[in-house]
Amino acid sequence: MSFKTITAAAIAAVMATGAVADENPAIEQRQGQFKLYSHNIAVLGGMAQGRMDYDAGMAQTAADNLFHVTRHDQSRLWPEGTDSSASMATRAKPEIWENLDDFVAKFVALQNAAEALQAVAGDGLDAMRAGVGPLSGTCQACHESYREEAS
Ligand code: HEC
Repeated sequence: MSFKTITAAAIAAVMATGAVADENPAIEQRQGQFKLYSHNIAVLGGMAQGRMDYDAGMAQTAADNLFHVTRHDQSRLWPEGTDSSASMATRAKPEIWENLDDFVAKFVALQNAAEALQAVAGDGLDAMRAGVGPLSGTCQACHESYREEAS
């Protein structure tokens, strides 16, 4: 490798680092809310699938948490230009911004499923299970259309 090549590589590395530093903070913030969904689904799904014993108090707390996180206002979390064609830091497909009404409808479906689950999560394993299935369906429906596969 010549000195010239090394210099070019160093400049490219600096530019790549700069690009990461300039990512829109909304990307990390919206990913944070999805992590909180997973944090609570781990409890509800674990009980529904028999990996954990059903505990009414824990189930209700997880469902309450989910309900509240799904109410977080989304209006500043999805600015234009934060899709996967513009940034390596996100798996949000550009199609979101071409079909915003559908994307929002899928979010509302999640909110409604979280509300329904919250109403039954403490009422026994079968009642909770009946609420977990539809909720997971709303996660999958949106990911199939609007989230890139993990690389
Ligand atoms: C309305 C659409 C929509 C719904 C509903 C939805 N997601 Fe997502 N989810 C996305 C998009 C888009 C991304 C990619 C976000 C990004 O990388 O900027 C994502 C990313 C994620 C991630 C990865 C976060 C990270 O650390 O990068 C997890 C985990 C996740 N979602 C879990 C869930 C769970 C669990 C549910 C249901 C309770 C759910 N999502 C419902 C659209 C949705």
